[in-house]
Amino acid sequence: MTDFTPALAAAFAFQSRACRYFGSDLTANLIDAIAEEAREQGALAALMAPFAALDEQGAAQAAVAIRFAGFAHASVLQGLAPDLACFYPPVAQPFEPLAVRAALARLARAEKMRFAHFLTSPPQTNEVGRSLALIGGFATIAAETGLPLRTFEIGASAGLNMNWDLYRYDVGMQGAFGDAASPVQIHGDWSGPLPPFAKLNGPLKAIEKRGCDISPINALDPEQALRLRAYCWADQARRVDALSAALELAKTYPPKVDMADAGQWVEEVVYPVAGSVSVLYHSIMWQYMPEPTQARIRSHMERVGAQATAEAPVAWLRLEPPTDVKQMPQVTLQSWPSGAVRKLADAHPHGAMVAWAP
Ligand SMILES: C[S@@+](CC[C@H](N)C(=O)[O-])C[C@H]1O[C@@H](n2cnc3c(N)ncnc32)[C@H](O)[C@@H]1O
Repeated sequence: MTDFTPALAAAFAFQSRACRYFGSDLTANLIDAIAEEAREQGALAALMAPFAALDEQGAAQAAVAIRFAGFAHASVLQGLAPDLACFYPPVAQPFEPLAVRAALARLARAEKMRFAHFLTSPPQTNEVGRSLALIGGFATIAAETGLPLRTFEIGASAGLNMNWDLYRYDVGMQGAFGDAASPVQIHGDWSGPLPPFAKLNGPLKAIEKRGCDISPINALDPEQALRLRAYCWADQARRVDALSAALELAKTYPPKVDMADAGQWVEEVVYPVAGSVSVLYHSIMWQYMPEPTQARIRSHMERVGAQATAEAPVAWLRLEPPTDVKQMPQVTLQSWPSGAVRKLADAHPHGAMVAWAP
């Protein structure tokens, strides 16, 4: 009886396809190699034991494959897996499945306790590329209200997207916007008109920024930052560079992320204030909250929306899949006092592409 059950094998195969689809052959190949090693009752098989009771959906939701790939990458970043590091940038020699499987087995034997401990926590990312999708929403809100923004992010993770107004956005042929001097360069494909920056009087800035997460990451703690970097796919250089630069910038502009459940926090902090527009926003986090918490936030937003006026408007900006989590995310905006809901864009889940169609 193996701990690498058919359900785990199916979840690994799905995750590998997803990584390849979203442009990381290295992570896809690595996950395939991990699965092969475990299937042959190698050193990785024993590490599968805590997940052996999960069905395929449970294994996918727990992102088991990503946990394993994350540990491998973390070990490479720490210099603990030189025979694996040669397959990662900057060396990036052609992937050799047998050599990688042997390197993974050595890592599992040498670092068994650390490996097992790493696997106990769910993966947590903070994808700064999502700021590219969000900034169009912030620009729309600012241009339409003519008011400064108070911004509130739920599920902020390390809070790197709370610094969205400190980044430079390069959308290729379409141009660039944001802070021209920023060390954080976010690249993406943009189709459709650019957000209405031209209607703004000055640079787009938030006058208040707050965030919460049920399990916040301290971007200034090297160990926690390492976990974030470990989950960023190593062969996606622009993502890796943007994350590293955003972590560096966070040392100068540390995001303040409260440890709190979003339901309670939204009730405490989001309310209209005259002379500003109060914006609740989030990216790729809605699915992680239970329905009662989602309902609590919806009713709070309806309540504060009913109190909103043209001098004290409220907005709710989301980058989330519309219904099914496997769907492509959309940027949507609900604005009060009218309460109107609009789709602003379709967007790649990492922000690599934004199809702006307000
Ligand atoms: C996939 S991550 C996305 C992080 C970030 N929004 C981004 O786009 O990079 C989802 C985040 O939601 C947080 N989360 C899950 N449930 C939550 C809750 N009930 N209240 C607040 N945060 C929550 C998790 O801790 C995690 O940091």
